[in-house]
Amino acid sequence: MKKAAGIRSATFVKSSAKVEQLPSPELPEFAFIGRSNVGKSSLINMLVGQKELAHTSSNPGKTQTINHYLIDKNWYLVDLPGYGYAKVARSMRTEWQKTLEKYILTRENLMNVFVLVDSRIPPQESDLTFINRLGERGIPLSVVFTKCDKIGKVVLEDNIGKFREAMLQFWEETPPFFITSAEKGTGKDELLTYVAGALKNSDHGD
Ligand code: GTP
Ligand code: MG
Repeated sequence: MKKAAGIRSATFVKSSAKVEQLPSPELPEFAFIGRSNVGKSSLINMLVGQKELAHTSSNPGKTQTINHYLIDKNWYLVDLPGYGYAKVARSMRTEWQKTLEKYILTRENLMNVFVLVDSRIPPQESDLTFINRLGERGIPLSVVFTKCDKIGKVVLEDNIGKFREAMLQFWEETPPFFITSAEKGTGKDELLTYVAGALKNSDHGD
């Protein structure tokens, strides 16, 4: 496999609390989502090679808006708040779920949703439910296992195997899986190669 070229430039564009505030959809975009604290913002920083572009925190619920980053002046990378964060007030959660749903279902330039899943734990109902809902609606997605530096290979493979099995109860085949560590840079080339391929198909490739 050809090594993906690294990202040359990454700049923050804007934070949107509502779908109406999003940047105009003229560039292809790739969104990162997953439960709170799974490592979305850290993964984004790892991909772009900047330590503090997306704000990270050990307290879940850090990212609260839809955040657009312009990459190589050619595509948007989008950091989304986590789903299933229990400490946020129920009314706010419902509100956010509506916004998220609207974003995912209506965003015409959304090329792929990367759903991040904590590689250290067995399949979680909330992740599977979310993924299956995207699948039902025909939204292109990939599964990204995070924090793989924190566990051994045996547990990692066991958790991923179980996740695949759980998905195959609903899916005929599984979407692409990526194994990553924001700490160690694992999976960076694979993810960027995947994005580059999708951009090429959309006529936005180099
Ligand atoms: P919210 O914005 O709150 O939904 O969280 P998030 O999914 O953006 O998570 P964030 O990137 O803020 O990371 C949460 C915590 O996990 C931070 O303390 C990170 O340092 C840690 N973390 C994230 N990725 C990794 C990783 O690959 N390895 C290790 N060891 N820690 C990680
Ligand atoms: Mg975040």
